[in-house]
Amino acid sequence: MDLFKYRGGQLYCEDAAVADLAARFGTPLYVYSAGTLRRHYGRLAAAFAALRPLICYSVKVCSNIHILRLLAEEGSGFDIVSGGELYRVLAAGGDPGRCCYAGVGKTDDEIRFALNKCIRMFNVESEQELENLARLAAEAGLPDAAGRRACAALRVNPDVDPKTHRYITTGKKETKFGVDLERAERVFRSFAASDGARSVGLQAVHIHIGSQITAVEPYVQAVTKVLGLVRALRAAGLAVTALDIGGGFAADYETGDALDADAFAAALVPLLADAGLEIIMEPGRFIAGNSGVLVTQVQYLKAGGDRQFVIVDTGMHHLVRPALYGSYHHIWPVRPGPQYEPHGRLRGEVFPGTVLVDVVGPVCESADFLGCDRRLPPVRRGDLLAVFSAGAYGMAMASEYNSFPRPAEVLVEGAEARLIRRRGTYEDLIAPERQAGA
Ligand SMILES: Cc1ncc(COP(=O)(O)O)c(C=O)c1O
Repeated sequence: MDLFKYRGGQLYCEDAAVADLAARFGTPLYVYSAGTLRRHYGRLAAAFAALRPLICYSVKVCSNIHILRLLAEEGSGFDIVSGGELYRVLAAGGDPGRCCYAGVGKTDDEIRFALNKCIRMFNVESEQELENLARLAAEAGLPDAAGRRACAALRVNPDVDPKTHRYITTGKKETKFGVDLERAERVFRSFAASDGARSVGLQAVHIHIGSQITAVEPYVQAVTKVLGLVRALRAAGLAVTALDIGGGFAADYETGDALDADAFAAALVPLLADAGLEIIMEPGRFIAGNSGVLVTQVQYLKAGGDRQFVIVDTGMHHLVRPALYGSYHHIWPVRPGPQYEPHGRLRGEVFPGTVLVDVVGPVCESADFLGCDRRLPPVRRGDLLAVFSAGAYGMAMASEYNSFPRPAEVLVEGAEARLIRRRGTYEDLIAPERQAGA
């Protein structure tokens, strides 16, 4: 589904040779394909077209403002979880009226900022947060002269198991997210009877059950449960106008278990089509995961015990997923030569003459690996490797740990490449500290 392909013995992003990009912009380098971002957004929009959903791309996944702008131009709204993410959306020219704001710990300043920008909806995660939102909305002068209130959804925890890594499971009772389904009806009822309802319209339900979900059943279970809640609320005379079904559709990490958007739509559209609800979706990884690769240069080769290490110039500080979740990212040379040119990028493809290695970074942690027990063609100092499927939760989770500056990011469109974030510098590392002392 993506536009990273090998041709003539080397890797291309659309029509740009990745080796040329590395020569021009240096490494480590995040390379994104604009065509892939558009294609994945379009796949979702087409699959769910019957519901005419508001698609709110999840900013946390890959939050570069140039990527947000591209998606806004495709018609996307945004799922945000902080004041900083709202700031990014605004800087990208995104419409705050198409932003849904989740997150369990919104501060007063963040809420005021979002109220001031008239966002589409606050996805409220607790009773206290709802009370606080109502207080701040009243302070901000809502309802205003036109009768406008702030809009809120209650994030409900449907207690379903999405069968993904426990760190990205969010819809089970023992997680910190949302309000238990059994309490939700009471929250709606008591809020509707409170003064807060003058300033905030609580008329929507939100769920987000987890990430990298490779089956439709958890969604079907969760949506079926919340539709039961919606029916009960309506029977009690409460208006419910929207349902935000969250994100979570898996990206294809070469593990052969990701579903296409059509499979999710085939299960969910019939459930939702006649519910009389505006449907909101918050995809992230599905759109961005395979839209980016991380390009790195081999620094050293060395043996240790029974391992062969390929030491590269990036690692857990720039792509933490392998260290954090044990995630798989396919890794292959940028210029493998004709003998090792993959036909797909398939993990299972077998090449004679490959060597078993661990690809590791320069950070002083043993968890600093990008891939262990990988069969790679023989590589040498200076060779370039591509770490695939790095577009989601890659740069967005990068840090300056060990005082390595952050990588640069480029966006490719056809044969053109545009720098969308310059490489970090040593001065970037210490500027806030210098300014603190000024
Ligand atoms: C509230 C919310 N919506 C959407 C997403 C995006 O999830 P994904 O990238 O799996 O689609 C997340 C991710 O954690 C989230 O917390």
